Amino acid sequence: MLQRPRRLRQSPALREMAAETRLHPAQFIAPLFAMEGENQREEIASMPGYYRYTLDLLVEEVKTLWDMGCRSALLFVKVEDALKDNEGKEAINPDGLMQRGIRAIKEAVPGICLMTDVAMDPYSSFGHDGIVENGAVLNDETIGVLADMAISHAQAGADFVAPSDMMDGRIEAIRIALDTAGFTQTGIMAYSAKYASCFYGPFRDALDSAPVDMQDIPKDKKTYQMNPANAVEGLKEAQLDIEQGADMIMVKPAVAYLDIICRIKDISPVPVTAYHVSGEYAMIKAAAAKGWVNEEEAMVEVLTSIKRAGADLIATYFVKEIIELLQRKDAKYAE
Ligand code: PBG
Repeated sequence: MLQRPRRLRQSPALREMAAETRLHPAQFIAPLFAMEGENQREEIASMPGYYRYTLDLLVEEVKTLWDMGCRSALLFVKVEDALKDNEGKEAINPDGLMQRGIRAIKEAVPGICLMTDVAMDPYSSFGHDGIVENGAVLNDETIGVLADMAISHAQAGADFVAPSDMMDGRIEAIRIALDTAGFTQTGIMAYSAKYASCFYGPFRDALDSAPVDMQDIPKDKKTYQMNPANAVEGLKEAQLDIEQGADMIMVKPAVAYLDIICRIKDISPVPVTAYHVSGEYAMIKAAAAKGWVNEEEAMVEVLTSIKRAGADLIATYFVKEIIELLQRKDAKYAE
């Protein structure tokens, strides 16, 4: 036999040398959930091992992440019901939880690339990413709110805004708004190909942000998030966001959409992030708790597959576990 591919697999050293895909701490983005209060953290029932934090503890968590080598975080807030309305007015409150959170994190860890979620759903009394009128989620009216939100986050010190709403034309509107307000260096990470997925369920538990069950209110997000049956449309969405000034784009969820990551990476001149979402995390945790898969192996295999598909960056709730594992591996080789 002239060809023996197994030759390259015969020792850990060779397997490591021949690896086409590597994971690095700086490639991970840590999603963070903030809540009001002091000195408290709450485990999210459908996301074992993941927590919502009050700002004082959240800052400590970000310090830990930074010291571990994580370079970026993506901030979400759980908004109190009394502050929710159809227009998302609380979203632009300069003293809102998000804005205070940004200031606290950037003060404690100025070097971190802090990204912020720009979308109305945590602030919407109907749990939608836009203003609802006559049973429809309005596009152009919502874009105005998103642009104001982006400015408000930039004023508080956000490095990147991350619009996750899937309204048409919002990247251009946000770019123009930021530039006009003088925030020419504030970046945009666009959720470009975001699918209407069942795998966001645990996240909606974390933020209490699911669409409400009321007459004349859409029960799902299918008029703005993408149809899981579509791939070419994802390319179009990515293209549009790049043309409109996105500095990074995103595919979401990740594992069920590896083909989309791969195809978008092929055409993208900007970094591609994949969001390994809450339901994808929960599935591994649940199967591992039953003893049906090995959690650590499942985590590494899945995150490697997302990277192999073409993701430059991965947002994942496994951020601490994976970085700890990478460091343990480094330490082992150093012995
Ligand atoms: C909403 C938003 C969602 C997620 C991030 N931003 C959920 C949704 O669209 O309903 C999901 C993240 C996850 O599931 O981990 N703008």
